[in-house]
Amino acid sequence: MIKLAIDMGSSMTKIYRADTNSGIVLAEPSCVAVVTGEQIKAIGKEAKSLIGKTAEFTSIVYPVYEGEIVNMRLAEAMLKEFLSRIDVKASALRRAQVLFSVPCGISEKALADYVALTEECGLRKVWFVEQPYLTALGAGAIISDTDPVFCLDIGGGVSNAAVISEDGIIAGISMNVGGNNMDANIISRIASNSELLVGALTAEKIKNEICSLSPSALGSVVAEGSSTKTCQPAAVPVQAADLTECLRVYINKVVEYAIEVLRTLPAEVAATVNRNGVLLSGGVMKIPYVPQYIGSMLGMRYRMSEEPQFSTVLGGGVLLRDKVLLNKFAKNRAE
Ligand SMILES: Nc1ncnc2c1ncn2[C@@H]1O[C@H](COP(=O)(O)OP(=O)(O)OP(=O)(O)O)[C@@H](O)[C@H]1O
Ligand SMILES: [Mg+2]
Repeated sequence: MIKLAIDMGSSMTKIYRADTNSGIVLAEPSCVAVVTGEQIKAIGKEAKSLIGKTAEFTSIVYPVYEGEIVNMRLAEAMLKEFLSRIDVKASALRRAQVLFSVPCGISEKALADYVALTEECGLRKVWFVEQPYLTALGAGAIISDTDPVFCLDIGGGVSNAAVISEDGIIAGISMNVGGNNMDANIISRIASNSELLVGALTAEKIKNEICSLSPSALGSVVAEGSSTKTCQPAAVPVQAADLTECLRVYINKVVEYAIEVLRTLPAEVAATVNRNGVLLSGGVMKIPYVPQYIGSMLGMRYRMSEEPQFSTVLGGGVLLRDKVLLNKFAKNRAE
């Protein structure tokens, strides 16, 4: 029986296969290139590589935005395409057990959209599990009644902070803050500091390659784009130290929300969290010194998931192998 865990993140869709030793079988940007709002030109990697390079009648759409399905037609096309890329026959997919990650505290309406999406893609046996459970399991945490886990995930579009126990989510929040905000901020900062307009892909690359929250960030890169003065192609050197603030403002925001979550905890849970610290995940944690900075802002120990960007989908794999826990944490009954 095929078992798949799927995390349709705002930036990247990840698929993990749990019935074989294949592990992560797909990691592709969650986007679609569309011509004149209708015809699909490319999906995933191919679509992302077109960002900022297409003529005006082609647009790049992220059908899952901030954890919710915002464009059903394109989400369907994207998921169908990704499923076709993992080398599983359509007939086997109909019988497969599939687990989907959904944002913490997802609304009934948003969950109904996921149900409609999976039905449309021919998936029959589907579980939906809130992301913090998966992230914690994927990072190797043991979720029990007596030892609640505090996890914090910063992805491309969403951040989730939650304290969970086997009994459920004790306190949690999903906020629309993530790496995308940092990329946009980098674009404005380079434009105002260096009179250079860079594209979204370039900004993301700069963030991931040289940015750091270290007080002595040393990296630099030559950024290419167009001059905001002459509109001509141009290149200027950019220093990591000048961009630190572009990241820090959003990390501070996430920490602020996380502290709000901590403030609502019953005293005994607060004591456990204080003792165990925070479990960090999400692609943004790969940026140097982000985990250390968050730990110091929260004033607690931190533990970083080994594969921060894949924790959620890996946790889906863990749950698919543990029926009891799966039925406990899933928002629905698939059988
Ligand atoms: N070294 C890196 N490699 C890949 N992504 C990175 C790296 N460093 C930072 N990132 C950033 O991490 C973010 C993507 O993280 P992740 O895959 O966890 O998000 P997601 O699950 O797709 O989105 P979300 O959870 O917000 O719905 C992007 O903003 C990306 O630029
Ligand atoms: Mg994510």
